[in-house]
Amino acid sequence: MNEPIVVLAAGKGTRMHSSLPKVLHKVCGKPMISYVVDVAKTSEDTDVIVVVPKDNDQIKDAIGNSVAYCVQSVPSGTADAVLSARTLLSGHNNVVVMSGDVPLVSENLLSSLIEKHNETEASITFVTADVKNPDGLGRVVRNSDGMISKIVEQDDASHDELDITEINAGIYMFNTSWLWDSLSNVAESKSGEVYLTSLIHLANQDNKVMSTVKANDEHEVLGVNSQIQLSAAEDYMRQKINHEFMLNGVAMVDPKTVYIDSDVVISEGAIINPNTHLLGKSKIAARSEIGPNTVIKNGEVGKDCKIESSYVSDSDIENGVSIGPFSNIRANTSLASNVRVGNFVEIKNSKVAENTRILHHSYIGDAEVGKNVNIGAGSITCNFDGSRKSHTEIGDSAFIGSNTMMVAPLKIGTGAITGAGSVITTDVPNGATVMGVPARLKK
Ligand code: UD1
Ligand code: CA
Repeated sequence: MNEPIVVLAAGKGTRMHSSLPKVLHKVCGKPMISYVVDVAKTSEDTDVIVVVPKDNDQIKDAIGNSVAYCVQSVPSGTADAVLSARTLLSGHNNVVVMSGDVPLVSENLLSSLIEKHNETEASITFVTADVKNPDGLGRVVRNSDGMISKIVEQDDASHDELDITEINAGIYMFNTSWLWDSLSNVAESKSGEVYLTSLIHLANQDNKVMSTVKANDEHEVLGVNSQIQLSAAEDYMRQKINHEFMLNGVAMVDPKTVYIDSDVVISEGAIINPNTHLLGKSKIAARSEIGPNTVIKNGEVGKDCKIESSYVSDSDIENGVSIGPFSNIRANTSLASNVRVGNFVEIKNSKVAENTRILHHSYIGDAEVGKNVNIGAGSITCNFDGSRKSHTEIGDSAFIGSNTMMVAPLKIGTGAITGAGSVITTDVPNGATVMGVPARLKK
């Protein structure tokens, strides 16, 4: 069994000016704390305990039951937050503490912390970093031999201390027997909170062994306290995601304007054009070209598709489909292979079979459209009568003339033809031709 990891997430997050708990703010579509929990859970053997605020289930709802929770009743500082996990940690000799608002931390950094702590048999080991702008962060104060003497928070720092650029990352490992004794001795700071970082000074007084690990890249330890820092984390993560895809054969002419969420999957040979957003759990298969100016949210796109200046959400697009420009494929739609959707087409909650064309100015909602169908310009399913939604079925190889109104519930048979401008209010038999308002059978 590995040593347990406590993730702190009960702070007030005042500086975000947001009603959402700070750690639930998203970086590339994923809550900050989920990044931290994923790193903590790298090994399945590790028990992770998240410290959450009282009377707020939002964090639990977001992370689920892969971790344990403990409640900090009053957010009175990081030392108190750790103390609130004490009963859940009994029987463990060491504990790792991570901050839920430091989302870019890597598995490597965590394992070097654990390794260093065990190797040096320290009472405290913590991660530091040299940063360009230490504003707002705890500074690591060392004596002339380079030994750590304390961490001083910004508000308590002297002029000289403010110039220190080595900062505390908020990621620690403690020996528990020393930790529990000392935590209760932490004095309140000026702000009225009890700081976990005061332990460094106490360890020094007690002549305890302390170790540090330095992060190679200051971005990895970027703490998010404000909306500006959130956007910096997003910026960094976005670049990292895009680079990873490009290294794996995904083409992007202008990655600066490509926004890909952390759970998206893209296969080799895909092309992502400028100003394109691939969000949620979207998947793009090989050689598909997406964008410019396209948003795909939870869309699964097959091979060799082309989607331009369009929206796709919660839908399934099979191989060889083309969409756009300027179309909107809404939730629960599936387009089978080689379907062509042109411009100004909206499709919702519908199934469209292979090779069907819906090329201009159409609305298809709550429908099942067969294969090889041609839906003429301006044709729509009238699926809503003001109170109820109804279903439309269009058979294989039907030809729907321009500007046909299909008043649902309705079934149009295989190979049927509707005349331009017709309003169809009753079912059309297989092979029949109908026209007029309301449409009648052509004999
Ligand atoms: C903290 C460190 C600072 C370090 C910085 C790194 C302290 C006192 N300071 O400052 O040295 O440079 O992180 O990013 O620890 N939290 C609770 N309960 C509380 C207060 C906070 O669970 O009562 C949680 C927060 O939700 C957050 C984490 O602890 O995830 C850190 O708290 P925060 O207030 O953001 O500390 P910083 O001011 O950033
Ligand atoms: Ca913070």
